[in-house]
Amino acid sequence: MRGRFITFEGGEGTGKSTQASTLARRLEALAVGVVLTREPGGSSGAEIVRHVLLSGAAKPLGTEAEAILFAAARDDHLTTLIRPALERGQWVICDRFIDSTRVYQGDLGAVDRRIIRRLERVVVGDTMPDLTFILDLPAEVGLERARRRRGNNEADRFETETLEFHARLRDAYLAIAAAEPQRCVVIDSQRPKNKVADEIWAIVNRRLDPAAAPVSLEDVET
Ligand code: TYD
Repeated sequence: MRGRFITFEGGEGTGKSTQASTLARRLEALAVGVVLTREPGGSSGAEIVRHVLLSGAAKPLGTEAEAILFAAARDDHLTTLIRPALERGQWVICDRFIDSTRVYQGDLGAVDRRIIRRLERVVVGDTMPDLTFILDLPAEVGLERARRRRGNNEADRFETETLEFHARLRDAYLAIAAAEPQRCVVIDSQRPKNKVADEIWAIVNRRLDPAAAPVSLEDVET
């Protein structure tokens, strides 16, 4: 039986990675085989492209070329990691996926929506997430959390300081959630981490029934 594919999305500072790993631990406690990964990156080829993108080296090529590079990284990630894991029956949890491209390159980078959709169709095909959590925060809170997290480190290519950026990001994610309620669930991330994690866990149980998943043999001690 094919495993399930769950993605986490949202702006900077919304707590995606923390929530993705909490969910992975909870699934593992039920003996579900889990692969926890992230984009851009997640596979050796894609990690190389990640560096090119986040260092800003690809910026002079323009946002369209960046969208193509994100798609190339995703293609490698899907081919070498995500699809094989799903076929083995493992559950894949990915920190950022297609909605990040739609929002950052599409809505914020002004890449034509048709180009984004075509890249998506070619690269992702029917390996669409079964469930996407969109972690939502008011723009000022996301901005402040991202700044605090960054400390004195330099901002990467896609981290910016403006409130307008965070507000547009939020609106773009909420629009995706409104358009695809079957796949997407908006999570209020202003609450304490454990409350957010409990809501996510309840939704996963309700929608995907992990207790019924086949037990992962890899985790069984011999
Ligand atoms: P990362 O350091 O992984 O930070 P985080 O996910 O915690 O924000 O940075 C990933 C950056 O790449 C982030 O600013 C969003 C951006 N990004 C895109 O612009 N398009 C994409 O398709 C993906 C996957 C990420």
